[in-house]
Amino acid sequence: MRQTAENVLQKVNHKSFRATMGLFATGVAVVTTEWNGRMFGTTINSLTSVSLDPCLLLVCLKKQSETGETIKRHGQFAVSLLSEAQRDLSDRFVRKDHDRFAGLEIIRSETGLPMLADALAHFCCEVRSVHEGGDHDIIVAEVHACRQRDGQPLVFYRGAYGGLSLERSHCLDAGAAEIAARSRGSFADDQLRAACML
Ligand SMILES: Cc1cc2nc3c(=O)[nH]c(=O)nc-3n(C[C@H](O)[C@H](O)[C@H](O)COP(=O)(O)O)c2cc1C
Repeated sequence: MRQTAENVLQKVNHKSFRATMGLFATGVAVVTTEWNGRMFGTTINSLTSVSLDPCLLLVCLKKQSETGETIKRHGQFAVSLLSEAQRDLSDRFVRKDHDRFAGLEIIRSETGLPMLADALAHFCCEVRSVHEGGDHDIIVAEVHACRQRDGQPLVFYRGAYGGLSLERSHCLDAGAAEIAARSRGSFADDQLRAACML
């Protein structure tokens, strides 16, 4: 391959790693739990599915995370996937200078876990293992229950929030085509066009 300034790999540092990983567009979720009657929750985008049998997912939480510590103590947590209309909740669950749950509509799982109302999807999880991941903990959890609704996801890309615009022509099945037909929204300048390989 021709060596141009663009295709020469640079030695990584935390700034370039963060900026480059920012090109991997993700959804945005809030993980929530409760301990001694107090609710905890934080915004994440490190959510990944791990296994189908059993149904496992993982989240990575900073070692100093108050929510992460509480999840490890309680052993159970919920995940609320944010819709495009819930962008303000993402900011709310990052900031530390206020009560993140004040005035918020909270719904409860069958096991009593607090979850955000109107989220696109909910998962109820039980911690199975915690692994070292540098300055983060990798929390692997079994999903005991989940539900979803129609709607548009909040997307995080290059440090900014946006929506998703799906290419109808790339959709593989009728369900995906329906989602594409309903999809609207864009990043302010460079619109995200995603093939929906569902
Ligand atoms: C879009 C977005 C995604 C984030 N993803 C994560 C994540 O996956 N893991 C993490 O530890 N922090 C993540 N953060 C930062 C935390 O939300 C933030 O540090 C928060 O204040 C931690 O609160 P806590 O101490 O209750 O955990 C993310 C922030 C944003 C805006």
